[in-house]
Amino acid sequence: MTKTRTENTKLNQWIQDIQQLCQPENVYICDGSEEEYQRLAQELVKCGTFTKLDETKRPNSFLACSTPEDVARVEESTFICSQKENDAGPTNNWKDPQEMYKTLKKFYRGCMWGRTMYVIPYSMGPVGSHIARIGVQITDSPYVVCNMRIMTRIGTPVLKVLGNNDFVKCLHSVGRPLEEDEEDVPWPCDTKNRYICHFPEDRTIWSYGSGYGGNALLGKKCFALRIASTIARDEGWLAEHMLIMGITNPEGEKKYFAAAFPSACGKTNLAMLMPTLPGWKVETVGDDIAWMKFGDDGRLYAINPEAGFFGVAPGTSLKSNFNAMKSMECNSIFTNVGLTDDGDIWWEGMTDEIPSHLRNWLGHDWTPGSEEKAAHPNARFTAPASQCPVIDKDWDNPNGVPISAIIFGGRRSSVVPLIYEAFNWQHGTFLGASVSSETTAAAAGAVGKLRHDPFAMLPFCGYHMGDYFNHWLTVGEVAGRQLPKVYYVNWFRKNENGNFIWPGFGENSRVLKWIFERANGVDHVKETPIGNVPAEGAFDMTGLDLDERTLSQLFEVDREAWGHEVEELRNYFQIFGDKLSQGIRKELDSLESRLKG
Ligand code: GTP
Ligand code: SPV
Ligand code: MN
Repeated sequence: MTKTRTENTKLNQWIQDIQQLCQPENVYICDGSEEEYQRLAQELVKCGTFTKLDETKRPNSFLACSTPEDVARVEESTFICSQKENDAGPTNNWKDPQEMYKTLKKFYRGCMWGRTMYVIPYSMGPVGSHIARIGVQITDSPYVVCNMRIMTRIGTPVLKVLGNNDFVKCLHSVGRPLEEDEEDVPWPCDTKNRYICHFPEDRTIWSYGSGYGGNALLGKKCFALRIASTIARDEGWLAEHMLIMGITNPEGEKKYFAAAFPSACGKTNLAMLMPTLPGWKVETVGDDIAWMKFGDDGRLYAINPEAGFFGVAPGTSLKSNFNAMKSMECNSIFTNVGLTDDGDIWWEGMTDEIPSHLRNWLGHDWTPGSEEKAAHPNARFTAPASQCPVIDKDWDNPNGVPISAIIFGGRRSSVVPLIYEAFNWQHGTFLGASVSSETTAAAAGAVGKLRHDPFAMLPFCGYHMGDYFNHWLTVGEVAGRQLPKVYYVNWFRKNENGNFIWPGFGENSRVLKWIFERANGVDHVKETPIGNVPAEGAFDMTGLDLDERTLSQLFEVDREAWGHEVEELRNYFQIFGDKLSQGIRKELDSLESRLKG
């Protein structure tokens, strides 16, 4: 008999309630062991969800391919069910919590027939860290269990630390009950009835119908961002869609930066970057989420609440992201990529040499030039953070790492220069609020459409975005705090021919160098209406072969284009109504008058 009870009274009650509601065949509490992982992986191979990759090429690794309708986060089916509609704000879908519970209960009733109900205790952040939090996910997807074991810290050690305390309740079902003797499908889901629901007041998440990524691995966006952002607001800290990196200069001095870019806009790449500048070193703390608290010394400390990377596969290669490729050499899960004839994986951009034949993510024969893609554009790898060759020595330090700079950015083919610096915290908050970016395949819907994505948190803020701006301003007002400097970057500016004018990737170390030097008080800036840019000669272009025209384009601040930007932003900010902070209004007005001056 496996144990179906824990030492936690509330957890036992909740397990019982959900068991009654969902009526699974079995209940199983995950211990987090290697043996358990192997057993589940074997079962997944047997039912066709997993294909085991060649053991000599990619040890202990698996490929899963979803149905074509379940390939990314579904923002239109994501809800914030706060008591008051106004607490969800204009950027979230809202539903009354009681109504939503009622609706969902209809779906959950009997939804786990013929399946095992897994109970996953997990810690977001190092187990026992004062910044970490504990959640418990109930799911009927063993694929989710395997991914959660890589992405978070799961199992018995977490239950020990939890004791009899509260936890975030995360319920997930793929929504595909099995009739007696019915054979399972490789990717069970219910794409017609998808609901990703958050109940911030109850610290509860109910997700139904999808098995993919942020819809199903509830520790990630649902808990670590949407629920955590509301906890952070209440408690005075920050839960952000940010990578965390350590950077060391040739003299051996080290600093940590955090950076927020929208989904599929370069966080994983920047977090693991190999600097082209000699003597500089980047080390990874996290690639997607940062929880940050001010310490007693007034500095801002960040932890990575995750334990793995759920990274975009297409475009990732030894050239573009060597360290990501190394991180996924073994013990990894691949979702929606191609399967080569020799039992390894492949995706667009992975190697210069293109396989002459493979089975693509849809299960079809694929040869170079095929109309279909080898991998879905939002195909992902799930890899343990500990396997990253440049993982920072403090990546799981329970106290976090001190942050010296915060960087915002997005995908902008025009207007926004390579880098500029905020004048102060309030202006920095305004820069975060003003992030806009072209949409990517990370969410279902059109790709390449410019949209506002404040703080890269548009799909992830669990409360009213106007209150969120205000929260950022407020944390900066407390006396005695050493506030990080704030920056805005854009790797994606294009020329008239539609080509990127900045080489990006490892060359982004040049931008990091300038930020590093600014944090040390080196005073070589040129003030522009939008903020400080590097002064003539202050930006290291050594060894880069860019023509004069490109160089001037990179840092160009076109007053007319920025005038339109201001108008556009003023228009957008109207959706926040009275909730739009004075501080943000002031910054917008000042920017406008600086542009006219
Ligand atoms: P999420 O996991 O969805 O949050 O994405 P992310 O922000 O971690 O994005 P990621 O680093 O995976 O990059 C996504 C895409 O942007 C990949 O196709 C990269 O090749 C591309 N990319 C990353 N950095 C650069 C850069 O400096 N320049 C250019 N041109 N493309 C980049
Ligand atoms: C993102 O979309 O920002 C991701 C992938 O990091 S997911 O976990 O699916 O949200
Ligand atoms: Mn992300």
